[in-house]
Amino acid sequence: MDTVFQFTMPTKIVFEDGAAFHAGDQVKGESVLVISDPFLYQSGVARKIGEGLGGRRVAYFSEIEPNPSCESVDTAAQAARDAGARCVIGLGGGSSLDVAKVVACLVSNPGSIYDYYGGGTKQLERREAQLICIPTTAGTGSEVTNVGVFTNRKTGKKVPMLSPLFWPDIALVDSTLTHTLPAAVTASTGMDAFCHAIEAYWNRESQPMCDMLAMRAMKLILENIKTAYDSPQDAQARRNMSLASTLAGVAFSQTRTTGIHAVSFPLTVEFGLSHGEACSITLPAFIRISEEKKQKKMRELCGWLGFADVPALAQAVEDLMRSMNMRTRLHEAGVREEDIEQIAQVGLEAAIIQLTPAEMNRQTVTALLRSIL
Ligand SMILES: NC(=O)c1ccc[n+]([C@@H]2O[C@H](COP(=O)([O-])OP(=O)(O)OC[C@H]3O[C@@H](n4cnc5c(N)ncnc54)[C@H](O)[C@@H]3O)[C@@H](O)[C@H]2O)c1
Ligand SMILES: [Zn+2]
Repeated sequence: MDTVFQFTMPTKIVFEDGAAFHAGDQVKGESVLVISDPFLYQSGVARKIGEGLGGRRVAYFSEIEPNPSCESVDTAAQAARDAGARCVIGLGGGSSLDVAKVVACLVSNPGSIYDYYGGGTKQLERREAQLICIPTTAGTGSEVTNVGVFTNRKTGKKVPMLSPLFWPDIALVDSTLTHTLPAAVTASTGMDAFCHAIEAYWNRESQPMCDMLAMRAMKLILENIKTAYDSPQDAQARRNMSLASTLAGVAFSQTRTTGIHAVSFPLTVEFGLSHGEACSITLPAFIRISEEKKQKKMRELCGWLGFADVPALAQAVEDLMRSMNMRTRLHEAGVREEDIEQIAQVGLEAAIIQLTPAEMNRQTVTALLRSIL
């Protein structure tokens, strides 16, 4: 029965160019911590957003690194406690937004993220600080999900953490913030959003509301990503990419992701690929096997996107990635034949891999990886 589903989206979405710089009306409480990365602080964006908060007391934590570690979360949480933050603003790509989600909780929950994650047994009980997420990539969709992904340095693994407290109160999506994205980051983060959309669509937990969002997101990305890559200041292309990223985020927030994301974790941790690269490098291969259990649905998608069949869609996606100088073969990322078993094994440890619309076991996953070595 395809039409039994639940849809939960407690986050208020404000989608408006320029809105990030006059966000004072959205903020509750007098004391705010803005969490971002060194680029967003040094380029002045974080301060400009702080200055638009109606004279509130604003502190800044700007040390977030890509694929943030639990240690960074704890350091940022201490900054939030020191500042007495009543509102935590995550400003940046998924890395800063994910950290802000836990930090907003740790203001009113004692201890370290390790108490709640990666073997920790405590439960986050309440979040007293307001949580606002302002994405600067398009992107992870983290502003509309209840997930954070952290690198656990104790185990050397990158693992998602879910909590109902992680739904931001407000997702403030201002595409003008993405105009400064370097071309390579535009490409990789935009294709990450495409993965979110297609993984929501072909997911074994897919549902009609998410299908609609995902289909629109995929079309927007195919129509706009190359323009955003070639012409970073093209406001319409940037706006459409931000819209697509948010739509895709809402879609996969309900379904979760599938094999692409499961396999991305070892590719990021072991081979240093960015999240977007680690996902999109296997995207064409996963598209090729998606007809195994979702033939009718995948053919409908091809019709909607204007492709004759699934192999044509896979080829077009690969060509698009190549046109943006993205790697499409694992050996280009330093993966060797003898690494394949290990990548497959770590990918298979992620439960989401079983949401893929094809049989996922050691044999099939290693075969898929070998096909793109
Ligand atoms: N929570 C979720 O639902 C979710 C979903 C997907 C991915 N993720 C996680 O998000 C992280 C990846 O996030 P990301 O891909 O957005 O990248 P990121 O946050 O790691 O940022 C990547 C780089 O882009 C730079 N950057 C960001 N915005 C910029 C801008 N406007 N102009 C110039 N440079 C800019 C940053 O400074 C950084 O160097 C990963 O850890 C991934 O696992 C989370
Ligand atoms: Zn992703």
